[in-house]
Amino acid sequence: MNEQITIAVVGSGYVGLVAAVCFAEIGHRVICVDNDESKIAQLRDGKIPIHEEYLPELLDRHRNTSVEFSTDLHSATQRAQVIFVAVGTPQSQTGSADLSYVDAVASQIARSITEYKVIVEKSTVPVYTNEWITRVIERNGVPRELFDVASNPEFLREGTAVVDFLHADRVVIGVDSERAGNLLRAVYEPLNSGRYYQSVNAVPGERSATEPSPLLQTSTKAAELIKHASNAFLAMKISFINVVSNICEAVGADVEQVSKGIGSDGRIGPKFLKAGIGYGGSCFPKDVAAFRYVAEQIGVDFGLLREVEKINTEQRKRFFRKVRSALWTFRGKKLGVLGLAFKGGTDDIRESPAIDLIADLLNEGCFISAYDPFAIERTKKVLPPSGALSYAKDAYEAASDADALLILTDWQEFSEIDLDRLHYTLRYPVVIDGRNLFDPATMAVKGFTYLSIGRPGTAHQRDSALLQKLP
Ligand code: UDX
Repeated sequence: MNEQITIAVVGSGYVGLVAAVCFAEIGHRVICVDNDESKIAQLRDGKIPIHEEYLPELLDRHRNTSVEFSTDLHSATQRAQVIFVAVGTPQSQTGSADLSYVDAVASQIARSITEYKVIVEKSTVPVYTNEWITRVIERNGVPRELFDVASNPEFLREGTAVVDFLHADRVVIGVDSERAGNLLRAVYEPLNSGRYYQSVNAVPGERSATEPSPLLQTSTKAAELIKHASNAFLAMKISFINVVSNICEAVGADVEQVSKGIGSDGRIGPKFLKAGIGYGGSCFPKDVAAFRYVAEQIGVDFGLLREVEKINTEQRKRFFRKVRSALWTFRGKKLGVLGLAFKGGTDDIRESPAIDLIADLLNEGCFISAYDPFAIERTKKVLPPSGALSYAKDAYEAASDADALLILTDWQEFSEIDLDRLHYTLRYPVVIDGRNLFDPATMAVKGFTYLSIGRPGTAHQRDSALLQKLP
């Protein structure tokens, strides 16, 4: 069934832009709508405001042909059969998701409906949002038989969002009517049938014609819960291995060995068991807080998620103490910092542990030279260059004449650094690694004082004793 659907995607951020381009890639006609005129103008010119693998190629392939960019939501609603809402759902003060953008867009869409439409939640929203959107559309005078509201949560990781979309582990569609189900199944048919993977210029990935992305049809409530529960579970895995890493440090074990041992169990799996300075990003912190808030609102105590958050916050503080244990004093010390993004492969610094750590070290009177392959420009907006903070053109410049080098983001290029060159570039050969990019034995042979997460350091015994004494 090779049905071309006309789709509107509202919101051209990390999720909306990737979804719009990928829907076009699998054969549909797409109108990507945003109220930010300058953003729309940039996209029409093929300029992309985010760093995503394959996005430039796909945008060039489909720009102004299968994908058009517009600020006119009214027209897009009238032309589309399916309207995906992919606007931001930021965290509010209480920890709940701020759904005011979803509310506003739903009202605008309602005022443009004159024939049957399916409105789809693509943004990460708490359970019951579907019911609220339905209520908002009805209150705007749309007869119930002229629309359905469905849920289609995304599981895109920043930096690999295009591959995650086209080679999804699963496509979840939450519907409460067969009519909506039929339409959403038609939208994703190229992926679920495997037909997409047979095209010569398909984006490469793990899925194939014989092993396509499976479709999971659920109720709308189940689909809304699947998203929050998935992210909360992944965040829990990370906090779990981070606590285990702290136990490893105390007893002198290597958390990488423990993680491998745990992850080899088919019921646990090796992914998301990498100890570090904790998770960041625009999703995990927000989604863990939102899921806990939703649970509390319906009378279920999700104390487990409070612990997940607490561990994550403590992991950053613990790393700060580790830096102090290596330097003894901060004031006047020159530090090289590698990594600003919340993880490797993206330019996004939202909730990045690196940003908070740099701010804390500057407050202690350190002088910092920071490098990141893609995130410097975004960082300058929150941490402008100053007498104490400069941005380097590469890792070696950041390390030049530094008292220590801190590694805060797991960029592949950092793990490929020439260690001999690094050794003589640093004033002192001290590396404090928040992402366990290097092997302690290699670092010892190369003459570094190397501290990392959950592993014996080359100066391990002295520092761990110091760690116990520090406030
Ligand atoms: C996450 C979910 O993976 C994705 O499915 C969802 O749609 C959006 O949120 P993202 O936030 O882009 O994606 O990044 P992810 O790769 O999940 O990493 C999140 C954070 O966890 C990063 O700060 C990363 O450094 C950290 N992390 C990840 C670890 O500390 N250890 C790990 O083993 C994995």
